[in-house]
Formats: sequence, structure tokens, C-alpha cells
Amino acid sequence: MKQAKNDTQNENKFKIKVTKNGPYLASGGIPLSEQVICVDNDDQCHGWKEGKKYPPQESYALCRCGHSQNKPFCDGSHARVKFDGTETANHKTYMEQASEINGPSLKLTDVQELCVGARFCHRAGGAWKLTQQSGNSEAKQTAIEEICDCPSGRLVAWEKNGKAIEPNFEPSIGLVEDTQAKKMGPIWVRGGIPVESADGKPYEARNRVTLCRCGKSSNKPFCDGSHLK
Ligand code: FES
Repeated sequence: MKQAKNDTQNENKFKIKVTKNGPYLASGGIPLSEQVICVDNDDQCHGWKEGKKYPPQESYALCRCGHSQNKPFCDGSHARVKFDGTETANHKTYMEQASEINGPSLKLTDVQELCVGARFCHRAGGAWKLTQQSGNSEAKQTAIEEICDCPSGRLVAWEKNGKAIEPNFEPSIGLVEDTQAKKMGPIWVRGGIPVESADGKPYEARNRVTLCRCGKSSNKPFCDGSHLK
């Protein structure tokens, strides 16, 4: 896995703005596509595949209330349903909130609040146990795969020298499709695109972030897995 690109490269060109009780405004020509959770022969979530690609647009509005008839785009239904999109997430950095597990050759950091229930971390005993077994190279490799597949960046793997192991994402937006659960998942913001709250305050720009698109999250604008309930 390569280190992610410097997030600051994307700060000027790309942006996602949360609007008050309305959609996300994506600007800068951010590529948009479906991203589908793959399931292996043991019924475990394992890897991603790209689905439908949307035609490029300089800017577009993505529904976050869950009621648009023109998903993934906003059609104004948020006003009709009187969507309450109040942002309840904190503005702390990931590392300010993270707990950590130290294995023999890998460290795992975890912010449980960011979990979207994508389940990649369950395979082969789970990412936490595999981290503790990371003296074994196969366990270490599986742990890294699982942690890097986590769309929200709840989980981050670190080499013992302190270097984060991140998937190399181009700035882009993925619309998560959870075919196993038969649900639409979150909006997956990749490659360090800044997300700004309705009041203008930025959230930490990260390589992996997931935004609610069903309107039910208790941690808006971030997904908290409520689409699965
Ligand atoms: S946010 Fe506008 S229709 Fe959902």
C-alpha cells in the first residue's frame, strides 16, 4: 500500500459543503461512482468493486435526507419532508479520539463512533485480533487489507515506525452499495477532499470519510450505520 497523497493538494480544487437541512454541495469536478462491497465465498465482506460511473460535472448536489426521487442527487424533497439535518458530529481530529491496540509489528487505531457497519474487519478473527497476531506475516497482511478496506477510516493501520498505511485514493466520491445487506450505504469521500459544515467550520480532511445519505445518522454529517437498522 502506498502512502496517501498530501491532503493539502486537494484543499483548493475540491470541496464538499454541508448545507443547512439540505444537500451536500460537491464542487471542483469531483468524480462520482458507485462503490460496491464485495462478498467472498465465506460470506465475508472482502474488497470493493466499482459500479456505475456518473458523467463528470463541475458541481452537483447530493441528497442527504434520503427522500430524493432522483438519488443520488437532491431534488428539493428535503424541504417537503422538513428534513432536520442538524450536524451533531464533533470537530475533533481523528487522533484526538482514537484508541489504539499495539501488536508485535502493527498498531491499530480505532474511533468506534465512525463505524458504518461495512464489516470488512470481521474476516479471519477480526482486525483487532489479527493486529495482536501481527508477528505472523499472513495475519499482518490480512489485518492491513481489512483495515484499509474500512471506508470510514474508523480503523487505521500503522507501521511500528509510526507511518500510517493508507490506500492510495484519488480525490473522488463513492456511493456505497451494500449488496449483502441490500442497503444503500454512505457517501464515501476519498482522497482528502475537505468537508465543511453549514456554519463554515471545516472537519478534518482525511483520506477516507463517510457521510450520511439516509438522513438517519445520529452523528451527522457522518454516517453511523443507521441505514442498516
Ligand atoms: S437533501 Fe435534497 S432531496 Fe434529500
